[in-house]
Amino acid sequence: MAWISQKMGQFTYFSLQIGDCMWQGKKVLDFGGNIGNLLRDPNSTVDEENYWCLDVDRQALEQGQASYPESHWAFYDRYCFFFNPHGAQNLRLPEMDQLFDYILAYSVFTNTTQTDMLELVKQLEGRLARKGALAFTFIDPHYFSWPGRYHGNNFRWRLDREKELAAERGETLDLDTASLMSRAQRSDWLMLVNSEDLYVETEHIKCYDAEQQRTCHAFYSEQHMKRLFPHGVILPPVNNEMQHCCVIRKP
Ligand SMILES: C[S@@+](CC[C@H](N)C(=O)[O-])C[C@H]1O[C@@H](n2cnc3c(N)ncnc32)[C@H](O)[C@@H]1O
Repeated sequence: MAWISQKMGQFTYFSLQIGDCMWQGKKVLDFGGNIGNLLRDPNSTVDEENYWCLDVDRQALEQGQASYPESHWAFYDRYCFFFNPHGAQNLRLPEMDQLFDYILAYSVFTNTTQTDMLELVKQLEGRLARKGALAFTFIDPHYFSWPGRYHGNNFRWRLDREKELAAERGETLDLDTASLMSRAQRSDWLMLVNSEDLYVETEHIKCYDAEQQRTCHAFYSEQHMKRLFPHGVILPPVNNEMQHCCVIRKP
Protein backbone atom coordinates (compact mmCIF):
# COMPACT_ATOMS: atom_id res chain seq x y z
CA MET A 1 0.00 0.00 0.00
CA ALA A 2 1.34 3.41 -0.92
CA TRP A 3 2.13 5.91 1.79
CA ILE A 4 1.17 9.33 0.47
CA SER A 5 2.71 12.39 2.08
CA GLN A 6 0.29 15.14 3.10
CA LYS A 7 3.11 17.44 4.15
CA MET A 8 3.50 20.74 2.29
CA GLY A 9 5.99 23.61 2.39
CA GLN A 10 9.16 21.60 1.68
CA PHE A 11 10.45 24.06 -0.93
CA THR A 12 9.96 27.02 1.42
CA TYR A 13 11.72 25.13 4.19
CA PHE A 14 14.78 24.17 2.13
CA SER A 15 15.05 27.50 0.32
CA LEU A 16 15.27 29.20 3.71
CA GLN A 17 17.79 26.69 5.06
CA ILE A 18 19.99 26.81 1.95
CA GLY A 19 19.58 30.57 1.53
CA ASP A 20 18.47 30.57 -2.10
CA CYS A 21 14.94 30.73 -3.51
CA MET A 22 15.80 30.99 -7.23
CA TRP A 23 16.18 27.40 -8.28
CA GLN A 24 15.42 27.82 -11.98
CA GLY A 25 17.96 25.87 -14.02
CA LYS A 26 19.18 23.93 -10.97
CA LYS A 27 19.15 20.15 -10.99
CA VAL A 28 17.33 18.92 -7.90
CA LEU A 29 17.24 15.44 -6.37
CA ASP A 30 14.42 14.96 -3.86
CA PHE A 31 15.60 11.89 -1.98
CA GLY A 32 12.59 10.15 -0.41
CA GLY A 33 10.45 12.73 -2.21
CA ASN A 34 7.33 10.50 -2.22
CA ILE A 35 4.77 12.12 -4.62
CA GLY A 36 6.87 15.27 -5.12
CA ASN A 37 5.18 17.69 -2.73
CA LEU A 38 8.25 19.91 -3.03
CA LEU A 39 6.94 20.81 -6.51
CA ARG A 40 3.46 21.53 -5.14
CA ASP A 41 4.74 24.24 -2.81
CA PRO A 42 3.31 27.51 -4.21
CA ASN A 43 6.75 29.11 -3.66
CA SER A 44 8.59 26.45 -5.66
CA THR A 45 10.87 27.69 -8.43
CA VAL A 46 12.06 24.20 -9.42
CA ASP A 47 11.72 23.44 -13.15
CA GLU A 48 9.64 20.32 -13.60
CA GLU A 49 12.21 18.83 -16.00
CA ASN A 50 15.06 19.48 -13.55
CA TYR A 51 13.43 17.52 -10.72
CA TRP A 52 14.43 13.93 -9.85
CA CYS A 53 12.74 11.89 -7.15
CA LEU A 54 14.15 8.68 -5.70
CA ASP A 55 11.99 6.74 -3.26
CA VAL A 56 11.44 3.26 -1.86
CA ASP A 57 7.66 3.54 -2.36
CA ARG A 58 6.85 2.53 -5.92
CA GLN A 59 3.20 3.54 -5.83
CA ALA A 60 3.91 6.99 -4.43
CA LEU A 61 6.36 7.49 -7.32
CA GLU A 62 3.74 6.41 -9.85
CA GLN A 63 1.36 8.97 -8.42
CA GLY A 64 4.05 11.66 -8.57
CA GLN A 65 4.87 10.76 -12.15
CA ALA A 66 1.21 11.03 -13.18
CA SER A 67 1.14 14.61 -11.83
CA TYR A 68 4.57 15.65 -13.13
CA PRO A 69 5.40 13.59 -16.22
CA GLU A 70 8.31 15.88 -17.24
CA SER A 71 10.13 15.06 -13.97
CA HIS A 72 12.20 11.94 -13.33
CA TRP A 73 10.95 9.25 -10.95
CA ALA A 74 13.06 6.30 -9.89
CA PHE A 75 12.30 3.41 -7.57
CA TYR A 76 15.03 2.48 -5.10
CA ASP A 77 14.35 -0.94 -3.62
CA ARG A 78 16.23 -0.43 -0.37
CA TYR A 79 14.99 -1.79 2.94
CA CYS A 80 13.21 0.63 5.21
CA PHE A 81 11.53 -0.56 8.42
CA PHE A 82 8.07 0.77 7.56
CA PHE A 83 8.24 2.18 4.03
CA ASN A 84 9.85 -0.84 2.36
CA PRO A 85 10.12 -3.82 4.73
CA HIS A 86 10.79 -6.25 1.85
CA GLY A 87 13.54 -4.13 0.28
CA ALA A 88 17.22 -5.06 0.08
CA GLN A 89 19.41 -4.15 3.06
CA ASN A 90 22.30 -1.77 2.33
CA LEU A 91 21.47 -1.48 -1.37
CA ARG A 92 23.66 1.15 -3.00
CA LEU A 93 22.10 4.18 -4.68
CA PRO A 94 21.25 3.48 -8.32
CA GLU A 95 23.56 4.90 -10.96
CA MET A 96 22.28 8.20 -12.36
CA ASP A 97 23.76 10.14 -15.29
CA GLN A 98 23.36 13.29 -13.33
CA LEU A 99 25.08 15.35 -10.65
CA PHE A 100 22.80 17.65 -8.66
CA ASP A 101 22.95 21.28 -7.51
CA TYR A 102 20.61 20.54 -4.64
CA ILE A 103 19.92 17.21 -2.97
CA LEU A 104 17.15 17.31 -0.39
CA ALA A 105 15.72 14.79 2.01
CA TYR A 106 12.77 15.98 4.06
CA SER A 107 11.83 13.66 6.91
CA VAL A 108 13.59 10.65 5.42
CA PHE A 109 16.33 9.99 7.98
CA THR A 110 13.72 10.57 10.66
CA ASN A 111 12.51 7.08 9.69
CA THR A 112 15.74 5.15 9.12
CA THR A 113 18.51 3.88 11.35
CA GLN A 114 21.59 5.96 12.07
CA THR A 115 23.67 3.47 10.10
CA ASP A 116 21.42 3.98 7.08
CA MET A 117 21.60 7.75 7.44
CA LEU A 118 25.41 7.74 7.57
CA GLU A 119 25.72 5.39 4.62
CA LEU A 120 23.18 7.23 2.46
CA VAL A 121 24.44 10.72 3.26
CA LYS A 122 27.93 9.64 2.21
CA GLN A 123 26.63 8.26 -1.08
CA LEU A 124 24.43 11.31 -1.70
CA GLU A 125 27.37 13.65 -1.15
CA GLY A 126 29.06 11.87 -4.05
CA ARG A 127 26.15 12.95 -6.30
CA LEU A 128 26.62 16.69 -5.69
CA ALA A 129 27.75 19.00 -8.49
CA ARG A 130 30.44 21.63 -7.76
CA LYS A 131 29.07 24.23 -5.34
CA GLY A 132 26.06 22.00 -4.73
CA ALA A 133 24.35 21.48 -1.39
CA LEU A 134 22.86 18.45 0.33
CA ALA A 135 20.21 19.36 2.90
CA PHE A 136 18.40 16.85 5.07
CA THR A 137 16.19 17.14 8.10
CA PHE A 138 16.33 15.50 11.50
CA ILE A 139 14.36 15.80 14.74
CA ASP A 140 16.04 16.77 17.98
CA PRO A 141 14.10 15.01 20.78
CA HIS A 142 15.04 17.68 23.34
CA TYR A 143 14.06 20.73 21.30
CA PHE A 144 10.93 22.75 22.14
CA SER A 145 9.49 23.59 18.72
CA TRP A 146 6.49 25.68 19.66
CA PRO A 147 7.06 27.29 23.07
CA GLY A 148 3.85 28.95 24.27
CA ARG A 149 1.71 26.77 21.97
CA TYR A 150 2.84 23.32 23.02
CA HIS A 151 4.35 22.59 26.42
CA GLY A 152 6.62 19.65 25.60
CA ASN A 153 9.73 18.88 23.59
CA ASN A 154 9.75 17.06 20.24
CA PHE A 155 9.95 13.62 21.84
CA ARG A 156 6.97 14.38 24.07
CA TRP A 157 5.10 15.65 21.00
CA ARG A 158 5.70 12.33 19.24
CA LEU A 159 4.37 10.35 22.21
CA ASP A 160 1.24 12.54 22.34
CA ARG A 161 0.82 12.21 18.59
CA GLU A 162 1.04 8.41 18.74
CA LYS A 163 -1.75 8.43 21.33
CA GLU A 164 -3.87 10.70 19.11
CA LEU A 165 -3.31 8.48 16.08
CA ALA A 166 -4.26 5.38 18.06
CA ALA A 167 -7.46 7.13 19.23
CA GLU A 168 -8.29 8.00 15.60
CA ARG A 169 -8.02 4.27 14.81
CA GLY A 170 -10.36 3.55 17.74
CA GLU A 171 -7.52 2.04 19.80
CA THR A 172 -6.10 2.96 23.20
CA LEU A 173 -2.35 3.33 23.46
CA ASP A 174 -1.31 2.91 27.05
CA LEU A 175 2.09 4.61 27.11
CA ASP A 176 4.07 5.22 30.28
CA THR A 177 5.00 8.72 29.15
CA ALA A 178 6.95 9.64 32.30
CA SER A 179 9.15 6.57 32.08
CA LEU A 180 9.77 6.98 28.33
CA MET A 181 10.58 10.67 28.81
CA SER A 182 12.99 9.86 31.59
CA ARG A 183 14.80 7.24 29.49
CA ALA A 184 15.04 9.66 26.55
CA GLN A 185 16.31 12.52 28.69
CA ARG A 186 19.93 13.45 27.95
CA SER A 187 20.31 10.75 25.30
CA ASP A 188 22.12 11.60 22.07
CA TRP A 189 19.95 9.51 19.82
CA LEU A 190 17.02 7.13 20.04
CA MET A 191 14.37 5.29 18.06
CA LEU A 192 10.70 4.89 18.93
CA VAL A 193 9.43 1.77 17.18
CA ASN A 194 5.76 0.92 16.67
CA SER A 195 4.69 3.76 18.97
CA GLU A 196 5.90 2.18 22.23
CA ASP A 197 9.24 0.39 21.95
CA LEU A 198 12.01 2.81 22.84
CA TYR A 199 15.63 2.04 21.90
CA VAL A 200 18.15 4.45 23.37
CA GLU A 201 21.49 4.75 21.57
CA THR A 202 21.25 1.30 20.04
CA GLU A 203 20.12 -0.19 16.76
CA HIS A 204 19.81 -3.68 18.21
CA ILE A 205 16.06 -3.90 18.06
CA LYS A 206 13.95 -6.99 18.49
CA CYS A 207 12.65 -8.91 15.49
CA TYR A 208 9.40 -7.59 14.04
CA ASP A 209 7.55 -9.41 11.25
CA ALA A 210 7.29 -7.31 8.11
CA GLU A 211 3.52 -6.90 8.62
CA GLN A 212 4.15 -5.61 12.15
CA GLN A 213 6.59 -2.91 11.05
CA ARG A 214 4.45 0.18 11.48
CA THR A 215 6.63 3.09 12.52
CA CYS A 216 10.24 3.82 13.34
CA HIS A 217 10.85 7.38 14.47
CA ALA A 218 14.53 8.28 14.82
CA PHE A 219 15.73 11.26 16.87
CA TYR A 220 19.16 12.89 17.14
CA SER A 221 20.31 15.69 19.38
CA GLU A 222 21.80 18.74 17.71
CA GLN A 223 25.15 18.03 19.43
CA HIS A 224 25.19 14.48 18.17
CA MET A 225 24.51 15.57 14.58
CA LYS A 226 27.37 18.05 14.85
CA ARG A 227 29.65 15.18 15.82
CA LEU A 228 28.34 12.90 13.05
CA PHE A 229 28.63 15.55 10.33
CA PRO A 230 31.46 17.90 11.34
CA HIS A 231 31.74 19.16 7.74
CA GLY A 232 28.04 20.15 7.72
CA VAL A 233 26.15 23.05 9.23
CA ILE A 234 23.37 22.26 11.67
CA LEU A 235 20.48 24.71 11.50
CA PRO A 236 17.42 25.12 13.74
CA PRO A 237 13.92 24.62 12.31
CA VAL A 238 12.39 27.36 10.13
CA ASN A 239 8.91 27.98 8.74
CA ASN A 240 7.29 27.05 12.06
CA GLU A 241 8.38 23.41 11.66
CA MET A 242 9.87 20.96 14.16
CA GLN A 243 12.71 19.58 12.03
CA HIS A 244 16.30 20.75 12.17
CA CYS A 245 18.41 20.72 9.02
CA CYS A 246 21.92 19.60 8.21
CA VAL A 247 23.42 21.31 5.17
CA ILE A 248 26.57 19.91 3.55
CA ARG A 249 28.08 22.00 0.77
CA LYS A 250 30.48 20.88 -1.92
CA PRO A 251 33.22 23.42 -2.61
C1 LIG B 1 7.88 10.93 5.97
S1 LIG B 1 7.97 10.62 4.27
C2 LIG B 1 8.46 12.18 3.62
C3 LIG B 1 8.14 12.30 2.17
C4 LIG B 1 8.59 13.59 1.49
N1 LIG B 1 9.99 13.86 1.67
C5 LIG B 1 7.77 14.74 1.94
O1 LIG B 1 8.28 15.58 2.69
O2 LIG B 1 6.60 14.80 1.55
C6 LIG B 1 9.45 9.64 4.09
C7 LIG B 1 9.70 9.23 2.67
O3 LIG B 1 11.02 8.66 2.59
C8 LIG B 1 10.97 7.49 1.79
N2 LIG B 1 12.12 6.67 2.18
C9 LIG B 1 12.33 6.00 3.33
N3 LIG B 1 13.53 5.39 3.33
C10 LIG B 1 14.10 5.71 2.14
C11 LIG B 1 15.34 5.38 1.54
N4 LIG B 1 16.25 4.61 2.15
N5 LIG B 1 15.60 5.85 0.30
C12 LIG B 1 14.69 6.64 -0.32
N6 LIG B 1 13.48 6.97 0.19
C13 LIG B 1 13.20 6.52 1.41
C14 LIG B 1 9.60 6.91 2.09
O4 LIG B 1 9.16 6.01 1.12
C15 LIG B 1 8.74 8.17 2.14
O5 LIG B 1 8.27 8.53 0.89
